[in-house]
Amino acid sequence: MLIRKLRPRWSNLQWLNKDYCKITPQNLEIYKDFSSYYQILSSFNNLDVDITNDKGFITQMRRYGNYHIDIDRDVYSIYYTGKKSEKRKSTLLEPEMIDNTFFLYLMTQTCALSLLNSQKRISSFNVSLHQVRQLSYPGIEFKNDQEGIHQEGVDYIVSSFVLKRYNINGGESIIYNKDKNKVDQITLKNGEGIFQNDKKLWHYVTPIQSKRDGVGYRDTIGLDIRIDS
Ligand SMILES: [Fe+2]
Repeated sequence: MLIRKLRPRWSNLQWLNKDYCKITPQNLEIYKDFSSYYQILSSFNNLDVDITNDKGFITQMRRYGNYHIDIDRDVYSIYYTGKKSEKRKSTLLEPEMIDNTFFLYLMTQTCALSLLNSQKRISSFNVSLHQVRQLSYPGIEFKNDQEGIHQEGVDYIVSSFVLKRYNINGGESIIYNKDKNKVDQITLKNGEGIFQNDKKLWHYVTPIQSKRDGVGYRDTIGLDIRIDS
């Protein structure tokens, strides 16, 4: 299903001299459509339960969407595929989130950044979008046992774009080189993400803990960007 045709905004996109960079809506020149950003913030309340701990507390919630992006000269045609994740069972995005303007610009700009940095002729991308909330409770830390230091197995990723950190410590993003030596450690604030080459680098996010009494959470978007052809 064709969702929208967009042109990347190239003026701030750069050829990187390292294999990762911090991204923000400002440096990606993502359309300042506050209503679509707020729509995402509130949609995190509607994610589906993904992981519970041994006491039955929900420690991760998630939704997932898959997109195909065709490039014709400088026009990016974005299709929603409706495909399920091959790697894991997860609920698809809410229907009203599929054409969210912020999502579409985030994918367009990071695909353009991938094209610029791969220095290849690319005619299409496949992008998986993950909307994830991790939760912590007093005395119970979130630990994603399924994910140690890992790669997603694609070309480029946004490992996390943080929409909101609430009442938490931890949740630090660590980047490793191909020998799994630490290259950088970044605590992403609200409105910050990391774009990185998934072929050359590995990544990990440290567990979160509630700062004060009560629940804490970290709301993020992740993108897996695969060069199709
Ligand atoms: Fe990951």
